[in-house]
Amino acid sequence: MSADELQRIFKTLSDPTRVRLLSLLEREELAVQELMEVLGMAQSRVSRHLAILRDAGLVRDRRDGTYVFYHLELPEVGPWREVWQLVRRGLSKDTTADRDSAALSRALEARADRARSFFDAVGPEWDALRKVFDDDALRAHALARLVPSGLRVADIGTGTGILAIELSRLGLEVIAIDHSARMLEAARTKLAEAGDERIELRQGEASALPLGDAEVDAAFAHMVLHYLPSPGEAVAEMARVVKPGGSVVVVDFVTHEHEWMRQELGVHWLGFETRDVQRWFNDAKLAEFRLATQAGLSADRDLPSTFIASGTLPR
Ligand SMILES: C[S@@+](CC[C@H](N)C(=O)[O-])C[C@H]1O[C@@H](n2cnc3c(N)ncnc32)[C@H](O)[C@@H]1O
Repeated sequence: MSADELQRIFKTLSDPTRVRLLSLLEREELAVQELMEVLGMAQSRVSRHLAILRDAGLVRDRRDGTYVFYHLELPEVGPWREVWQLVRRGLSKDTTADRDSAALSRALEARADRARSFFDAVGPEWDALRKVFDDDALRAHALARLVPSGLRVADIGTGTGILAIELSRLGLEVIAIDHSARMLEAARTKLAEAGDERIELRQGEASALPLGDAEVDAAFAHMVLHYLPSPGEAVAEMARVVKPGGSVVVVDFVTHEHEWMRQELGVHWLGFETRDVQRWFNDAKLAEFRLATQAGLSADRDLPSTFIASGTLPR
């Protein structure tokens, strides 16, 4: 390592705010507003330090509609990875880092709360709104990637249970999960109407699924990830609950600019880059990753493209 390089590293890390930012952005992709809340700092200060970190090649930004999110991305080559590991070890006993971490957990809970309040307010009306998320051909493809009939599937973020009922009709044993009490109530009504008593409803968070390790043969999330505070964490949770050889299937939007969806549908993310989706599956140790995209087809509204991603937990 040259003296110049060392000096640049020490200079970048010489401000504690920058170390705190790096540590937060390593854990989660965050918007400036969220960073301001977690750190208790004004926008100008947060933005100034973010710019320095970005110029140093440590932080990348990603536009999501009108929001910009930042995440840690250390250079592949050079000493930064080693240096950062050293810093991270040092932070393990740091009270400020502990406080930041607790504040970050609260900010992520607030993201989840926003989605929960939206769906608690919407309840059974969801069926009228869900049309933009619905596509028969896409759904048929996604379902075909699930396991053979007779096996047990978790439908995560089940909403009013429409897909759970379809899965159950295909002969699968379904555990339908949602964090919104109101949506589960709507699902209960729909299941009763459909005369389906086999589907089990469970209330719980996608980031802490109410399922034991390896409890199901497949986990399915249809149009749910864009509501989640940490979609990558949810994919890892899905991998935890499937048996070796089991599949994880996710259907969602590819990155788009339909800003109206935030207000009208309460979404948190305007779709995802397919490479991010692949990274989440890789990080969750899911093999045989497959992803297919499909143009958003609708007669009456221009809709974003969708993707179906799947992976298998190695035996
Ligand atoms: C767009 S709806 C999709 C419903 C269903 N999968 C479908 O395609 O009809 C999203 C569902 O995810 C649920 N949801 C959102 N955030 C969640 C979270 N953090 N944990 C569990 N469920 C969540 C919502 O309550 C809602 O029912």
